[in-house]
Amino acid sequence: MTTVKACLFDLDGVIVDTAVYHFQAWRRLANELCFDFTEHQNEQLKGISRMESLELILNWGGVSLTEEEKIAWATKKNQWYLDLVMQMTPNEVLPGVPDFLKSLRENGIKIALGSASKNSKLILEKIQMLDYFDAIIDGNNITKGKPDPQVFLMGAEATGVQPTECVVFEDAVAGVQAAKAGGMKAVGVGSADILTEADIVISTFEGFSVEKLLQM
Ligand code: BG6
Ligand code: MG
Repeated sequence: MTTVKACLFDLDGVIVDTAVYHFQAWRRLANELCFDFTEHQNEQLKGISRMESLELILNWGGVSLTEEEKIAWATKKNQWYLDLVMQMTPNEVLPGVPDFLKSLRENGIKIALGSASKNSKLILEKIQMLDYFDAIIDGNNITKGKPDPQVFLMGAEATGVQPTECVVFEDAVAGVQAAKAGGMKAVGVGSADILTEADIVISTFEGFSVEKLLQM
């Protein structure tokens, strides 16, 4: 049995599926700049920051902008994204997540958020999950994005737990890499074909339990 004293969760794609809203808002930006991109390309945007995402998308469209224009477009995209986020409800929490977090609590395991998003608190509020977390580290706190381990190392520190006693839950390749770079175990949430560096991969939290966590 391994000792697990804290679980660190990515937000987008792990707690809730906001990727569809990010995709919609980024696509609107691309369309206004007269190009388009696919859902397949959108996979590459998972886990990376807003400005890094914008750079990739502009590259796909062959569009070059000044720094000021980039900031203006990123701000527009975020507003479109927030219009969608404001309509979110607790029904959008991914299956099995609340029960798993409750059982972590009951077993004295700390819970932290480690997300690249600058909107994480608003999203957690909309889905009524804010109270589950002992610590929240997000895009507002970090200087280095995933795959750098900073976000998770800060989460470990905020919960007072050694990285080796933390388990990270991630749906993005860059996020799994960040966990491993931080010396933590990683549970991939999604497809084993994509999250090849994770210690284990689950497709949903339904059926996952603290017992299974401790057997990792
Ligand atoms: C990550 C998402 O969680 O947050 C990325 O996977 C997103 O797609 C990033 O770009 C930043 O989010 P936000 O909400 O600050 O634009
Ligand atoms: Mg994610």
